[in-house]
Amino acid sequence: MLQLGDEVTLYSVVFVLVLLGTRSPLWTTGLTASLYLFMAMFRFPQVPSSRAQQVLHPAKGTAGSGKVSVVAHRGGGHDAPENTLRAIREASKNGATGVELDLEFSADGIPILMHDETVDRTTNGSGPLSQFRLSELGKLDAAAKHRLRDKFAGEKIPTLEEAVEECIRLQLIIYFDVKGHPDEAAAALKELYKKHPVLYNSSIVCSFEPKVIYRMRQSDPEVVTALTHRPWSLSRLGDGTPRFSSLWQHHWFALMDMVLDWAHHHILWKLCGTSAFLIQKNFVSPDYVQYWAQRRVEVVAWTVNTKVEKEYYQELLQVNYITDSLVEDCEPHY
Ligand SMILES: *[C@@H]1O[C@H](CO)[C@@H](O)[C@H](O)[C@H]1NC(C)=O
Ligand SMILES: *[C@@H]1O[C@H](CO)[C@@H](O)[C@H](O)[C@H]1NC(C)=O
Repeated sequence: MLQLGDEVTLYSVVFVLVLLGTRSPLWTTGLTASLYLFMAMFRFPQVPSSRAQQVLHPAKGTAGSGKVSVVAHRGGGHDAPENTLRAIREASKNGATGVELDLEFSADGIPILMHDETVDRTTNGSGPLSQFRLSELGKLDAAAKHRLRDKFAGEKIPTLEEAVEECIRLQLIIYFDVKGHPDEAAAALKELYKKHPVLYNSSIVCSFEPKVIYRMRQSDPEVVTALTHRPWSLSRLGDGTPRFSSLWQHHWFALMDMVLDWAHHHILWKLCGTSAFLIQKNFVSPDYVQYWAQRRVEVVAWTVNTKVEKEYYQELLQVNYITDSLVEDCEPHY
């Protein structure tokens, strides 16, 4: 019933909007029918919920007291240099259920772990990542800018393969965060799942870009996936300040934000057949969790960084959360 209600709402909204826009009943009927056919033909079904549950609630790790999964953001960037093997080991030691890792590529096309498009913020090198071959990345110190750089000095940027093997060894769930390169990322991950089938039961591919997730499911429909979303992300930065100083631009992108938000909640998740929705923590409420639960989609909150907040998400909302630190309160990294 609910699914039907969902569809009726979706197509009614589209119908009314197109009718207001075109004032042509013929066009409106045609466009709405096309959208319906498009969705029916091109959407991916969700993976079986038993497997999604295995990934999202594996009953591993001690930090979430067995109720929720606690996921170390970039491997736990506050506790150790982000996206490194040491971070993965620290997260495991500190009881994390899983780690969130950022997939990027070296200049010679090898999948590696890095969040930014340049190496400047985290290493002692400088310049765009796309200009570093794997052998050159191997010379950089991935701990160079970390607050605990003395303890972790000389830590290397790992390849995706090295990081995944470490996670499998430590039985950590992996949340792959893919920023772009839909084709390359889907191909690299498909290869990885083929080599390590245990990943089907222990990892989830996440992205802000619906295209990445859609592409992933096209290459391998068995992979568990999630969309990542921050409402108002087009018009505002992570800390809430407007991206654009021009009022006209700001309002235009705010309008685009509304369209994007609506599409995420009504179309994109269904088209991609995602099993989870990773959303900026401030937008999670009991009603919000309920909205997604009715669609068999799990909410994961990010980034939850204080003890008080962790208790709220864990005990009250009972949703999985992503955190920068397993051991102490800290400021969020955007
Ligand atoms: C970065 O640090 C490593 C390890 O200490 C060192 O071998 C390398 O020469 C440094 N690279 C640069 C560009 O400073
Ligand atoms: C994944 O989990 C299912 C159910 O527990 C199990 O039957 C299957 O063998 C597992 N697959 C791998 C590759 O571990």
